[in-house]
Amino acid sequence: MAEIRVENLHKTFGDYVAVRDSNFTVADGEFFVMLGPSGCGKTTTLRMIAGLELPTSGSIRLGGEDVPFNRAAARDIAFVFQLFALYPHMNVRRNIGFPLKCQNMPAAEIRTRVEETARFLRIDHLLDQPVSRLAGGDRQRVALGRAIVRRPMAFLMDEPLGTLDTEFRDLMVRELRELHLRIRATTVYVTHDQLEAMAMADKIAVMSRGVIEQFGPPQEIYDRPATMFVADFIGSPPMNFLDFRGSLEPGQAAVQVNGATVAVPAAREARREADLVLGARPEHVRFDDASKLRGTVFGTEYLGTTQIVTVSTAHGQVKARLPADVRAVAGETVGLSFRGERLSLFDKASGRAIRTALTDGAHPPSRSGGGGPPQAVEGASLGGAPGVGSNPAAGGAHG
Ligand SMILES: Nc1ncnc2c1ncn2[C@@H]1O[C@H](COP(=O)(O)OP(=O)(O)OP(=O)(O)O)[C@@H](O)[C@H]1O
Ligand SMILES: [Mg+2]
Repeated sequence: MAEIRVENLHKTFGDYVAVRDSNFTVADGEFFVMLGPSGCGKTTTLRMIAGLELPTSGSIRLGGEDVPFNRAAARDIAFVFQLFALYPHMNVRRNIGFPLKCQNMPAAEIRTRVEETARFLRIDHLLDQPVSRLAGGDRQRVALGRAIVRRPMAFLMDEPLGTLDTEFRDLMVRELRELHLRIRATTVYVTHDQLEAMAMADKIAVMSRGVIEQFGPPQEIYDRPATMFVADFIGSPPMNFLDFRGSLEPGQAAVQVNGATVAVPAAREARREADLVLGARPEHVRFDDASKLRGTVFGTEYLGTTQIVTVSTAHGQVKARLPADVRAVAGETVGLSFRGERLSLFDKASGRAIRTALTDGAHPPSRSGGGGPPQAVEGASLGGAPGVGSNPAAGGAHG
């Protein structure tokens, strides 16, 4: 059992808070991704789990054991760093076997384990090659081999694909996911790349400035962002935000945006004359001649089967993902409407999602509490919107 439970984890460097009151649980065998921009505290969190950095306060439990003060070496964890520092003077076999040699494992057993691992990673034909002669992808695989050969309780990976070009990165994302599905080791994976996170994670924690903004399966985070930061950070292009002023009553299922009535998921809380924000994913925006919400086509980006059309409106630019055969001519005026049941509403001042029928059952947005128990997410259901479950297994479908 290799559950990782992080509770009220806090880390300061002098006055600077690098990790603020972080809470999350990585279930045994789960692939967990910490996602966020540079400096948000991902590596610091990972280093505390690894025992390389002491928390200022809070606790970390590995497999039920409290560990913040264990020595790093005592933890049955493989830490895969950004830069794969292979031993250049050793061949592939000795690189992969090195961790076992350090454990004084008998040579015959090392040999068996190394060969098994190499077959598993499809680099067994390279075992006697010097690593200096390997191509980038094979080098990564040797590094992965060295990490998995020990069969650790958990993997911690800090931007392991950081230096790869796009083509190799896509390949390695698929390999890592496949590797995970085969060995099912608890994994904490750090990246600033949302596509990597969406493709690999069972659960994602989106971090910003030391705080976990949202914690949940990829689809949950994409469909029901808890904050404007998450809505903007996840998705390419990101969610459109349309500012408006208005009031909300519980049960209200439409808002007035610049004279246009826009259907939204029924509100679950009230607001009185507040600055609000309507959030619409580009794929939930469409052209609609009858709509009073109008704008001018600014530009088009063709993507084969779809296109991203940018429309300038009184609320700023709105991007729509439309079928490639929809006519969009720069300079023309168009009406815009939305898939109402998929829209988000935010409170502009706090940046947090307003509770609606869309967010029913979802994990509550939390700035201070961080993630909370994953059961709350797994148990979530989305009333009245079929096909948008929050089954954590859905994360795998992205891969
Ligand atoms: N040893 C340290 N002393 C002082 N400040 C530190 C130390 N380690 C990290 N920090 C600061 O804490 C913040 C979080 O750093 P961290 O390395 O965890 O970010 P990150 O999310 O991993 O970013 P990146 O994507 O750039 O790797 C940063 O502002 C960093 O400058
Ligand atoms: Mg880092």
